[in-house]
Amino acid sequence: MTAVPEITVRKVDLQDPEWKPRFEAFYAGRQVKRLRAKPHAYFAAFAGGELAGHSVIYFDKGRWIMDGLLVKPEFREMGVAKRLTEARIRHAIEQGAPEIWYACDDGNLVTICCHLRFGFQKVCPDKHRCTAATAHWYRLPVTPELKGKFLK
Ligand SMILES: CC(C)(COP(=O)(O)OP(=O)(O)OC[C@H]1O[C@@H](n2cnc3c(N)ncnc32)[C@H](O)[C@@H]1OP(=O)(O)O)[C@@H](O)C(=O)NCCC(=O)NCCS
Repeated sequence: MTAVPEITVRKVDLQDPEWKPRFEAFYAGRQVKRLRAKPHAYFAAFAGGELAGHSVIYFDKGRWIMDGLLVKPEFREMGVAKRLTEARIRHAIEQGAPEIWYACDDGNLVTICCHLRFGFQKVCPDKHRCTAATAHWYRLPVTPELKGKFLK
């Protein structure tokens, strides 16, 4: 049986000239937000020292929104996405977020399975037309219980 490598997560800065090329290479060919002015935090996950996953959480129009979750195929199903999501939830709670959001389409069963475990629930905000073809919003209220779990 192959041993699962140790997974670590740290906050990274897209403006860091050493990090930027690694970020661009990681997301090559994919759409991802490159944030500057809006409050945000990028998190990178490492498995046995190798870059295994990346993600972001940012603040827009009064909401903390998770985005850009991607794990390299060879490091999937080892808990990398879970760790990146925990880091982003903790960051938002530390920033005083009353709730945390993300959007994905109905076909993305994996992301739904990775996030619902934390208590996210599907909602259709005003002005959004939720159909089978559109992305759906998911919301996690920051309750005292959630804070207790994440700010130990
Ligand atoms: C979705 C994705 C981020 C998951 O990353 P991951 O590191 O493999 O996920 P984790 O190992 O942290 O898994 C978290 C949970 O999801 C489950 N899971 C992960 N991949 C799964 C799969 N292919 N099928 C079923 N369940 C799966 C895990 O079993 C785990 O649940 P558990 O803790 O109850 O066992 C990764 O597959 C990926 O990068 N996919 C392509 C990009 C993408 O879809 N990004 C999301 C865009 S919104």
